[in-house]
Amino acid sequence: MSLNKKSDVPPPAPPLPAQINNTNLAHLNPLPPSVFTLPQTAQLEALYTIIRNKETSRGDFLFYSDRIIRLLVEEGLNHLPVVARTVETPTGAVYNGVGFEGKICGVSILRAGEAMEAGLREVCRSVRIGKILIQRIGGRILGRRNHPPKVVLLQEFCLQFPQDIASRYVLLLDPMLATGGSAMKAVEVLMEHGVPEERIIFINLIAAPEGLTTFCSRFPSVKVITGWIDQGLNDKAYIIPGLGDFGERRYEFF
Ligand code: URA
Repeated sequence: MSLNKKSDVPPPAPPLPAQINNTNLAHLNPLPPSVFTLPQTAQLEALYTIIRNKETSRGDFLFYSDRIIRLLVEEGLNHLPVVARTVETPTGAVYNGVGFEGKICGVSILRAGEAMEAGLREVCRSVRIGKILIQRIGGRILGRRNHPPKVVLLQEFCLQFPQDIASRYVLLLDPMLATGGSAMKAVEVLMEHGVPEERIIFINLIAAPEGLTTFCSRFPSVKVITGWIDQGLNDKAYIIPGLGDFGERRYEFF
């Protein structure tokens, strides 16, 4: 079929606004001062639309969630301190700039948080990365599908932190902030290891208002970098509309 005739030319798509009005932000009005979202652009929403779609292939889910993770990590780094640094350029001129100050490390909350490690490594070469596994106890069976109805006790099962973690800024990685239980437990453990609350930056792709509110009232000095704030949680503690189980989508555990 030829598209040469004028009538065959598809009409131009209506222009999209560059900035999206994420009405869910109104659920948290005002946003806690420690919360920073990525700029809510049409481009970002297009990435989220792909990863939320249940028909998206695993390959595309990996590719597009990695793009978002990269943006989130860059935004997280924007919150690290810098000091004045002067350099000489090849033109012989002096440039008064800044340089990074302080050491960082990543800590991923297993298993889904591991998916964010590569994004951090791409941006911070040879960054140290620790891991923490938090399990739910007190429910009949561990795991999200059997999310225990009321009180959930969380216990850290395994830790692998850099020895000098207390002197580093920590980028805490977990893709989904649902109830906030695992992230709060992880911050508690980091603080027990000497990391001051204000040196922790928690990075996630999607946050539920309930979890965000609980987390921020418990740890007001931890900065939270999130890509998108969704509507809320369902009775199984899944984020709505969300994207389902991030770990399953990413690793296809069934
Ligand atoms: N973890 C997920 O993977 N998805 C949710 O919706 C909530 C927590």
